[in-house]
Amino acid sequence: MQIVKVKMPHHPYEVQIASGQLNGTFMTGLISRYNSVSDYVIITDAQIFGLYSDWLTDRNVIIVASGESSKCFSMLENVLEQMASYQLTRNGLVIAFGGGVIGDLAGFAASVYKRGIRWIGVPTTLLSMVDSSVGGKVAVNLRAGKNLAGAFHQPEAVFIDPVMLDTLDKREVSNGLAEMVKLGVALDKDYFEALERFPIEKVFSAHELTSHEAERWSDLIRRACEIKAEIVASDERDTGRRMLLNFGHTIGHAIERYDSYRERLHGEAVAMGMWLKCRIAHSEGFISADVLLRIGCLLDRCGLKRTLPPMEIDAFRSLLEGIGHDKKQDHQIHEGQVNWVVLRGLGSSTLASLPYHEMMNKLEEAYKE
Ligand SMILES: NC(=O)c1ccc[n+]([C@@H]2O[C@H](COP(=O)([O-])OP(=O)(O)OC[C@H]3O[C@@H](n4cnc5c(N)ncnc54)[C@H](O)[C@@H]3O)[C@@H](O)[C@H]2O)c1
Ligand SMILES: [Zn+2]
Repeated sequence: MQIVKVKMPHHPYEVQIASGQLNGTFMTGLISRYNSVSDYVIITDAQIFGLYSDWLTDRNVIIVASGESSKCFSMLENVLEQMASYQLTRNGLVIAFGGGVIGDLAGFAASVYKRGIRWIGVPTTLLSMVDSSVGGKVAVNLRAGKNLAGAFHQPEAVFIDPVMLDTLDKREVSNGLAEMVKLGVALDKDYFEALERFPIEKVFSAHELTSHEAERWSDLIRRACEIKAEIVASDERDTGRRMLLNFGHTIGHAIERYDSYRERLHGEAVAMGMWLKCRIAHSEGFISADVLLRIGCLLDRCGLKRTLPPMEIDAFRSLLEGIGHDKKQDHQIHEGQVNWVVLRGLGSSTLASLPYHEMMNKLEEAYKE
């Protein structure tokens, strides 16, 4: 078992990672460990329930439809009503058993039910293991935009079992890999190189990993949690360093919005955003041609497309205009200045403020190259 300590100033907790740890017995143990023998609910989605129902029989389970559409206010209300029907008390426990959608929805439900009860994350997608399960941001979407209603509500603990990735769709694996590459490129050169050295192609059929490789894979997941944990613990409310985690996301969000969240998964859009930023870093002399090539090669091996589909520059501009509508615009764009992450070298980035039109010019230049 590997443990990452998330040192949130007012609510420290652990992420425990172990291959093969999850099963029905583990779930029972989890519930009794938190003194919640009948005072708990497990929130999951229909697809995960279909695959892992053996672990969940005879339990207080709330099942929502799979997919982003469940991360909405009406589903939140529905979940809260079901929690009430299970007569959950203020000492009750919510177990979020699923991907980022379930973590965000169940965590948010836990944050408002009876003014806040405890919750535990059991992430089941790679993206939720390496990204959304650490940091305590929970939310639902509004019609006006993604994650517009939410809270900071840290879990009691997070339990990760990489074996769960065996049933995950390959595209969803790439989706999570994009966030891992992001951590390496923007924050940690050693991590980037560890990813490079790993036979990453094999994680798409994780059962083919040798036991030594499976251990290294667990370690890469652990290290991703650790890098994120270090950053969020120093900036719980996302006003400073935590913004470095948004590397590639300003453009990524614009791409997602441009195709109305239909064509691409989040990580796929972020990979394209990252690649554009890396090319800017190269043209400004921050990274060499060799480093750029290595980043491109790793993205390829992760099954991530780097380049945007060919589009006219006008279409590209209208895509970029979406940046002005980014939900984080309150701190990203202020009085015509944009805060964005600048790559200063492999594994090293800083926040910089530059005029909006200058950012647009840089992006256009990089796109045209
Ligand atoms: N809170 C945060 O800090 C944070 C960070 C990043 C992303 N997010 C949020 O996370 C969400 C995306 O999360 P996601 O990519 O995990 O999507 P998801 O939860 O929708 O899961 C993707 C799909 O995989 C299925 N699935 C999950 N685990 C499985 C398994 N082990 N085997 C087979 N199928 C499985 C799900 O049913 C779903 O169809 C977005 O809403 C995003 O906003 C939150
Ligand atoms: Zn992301």
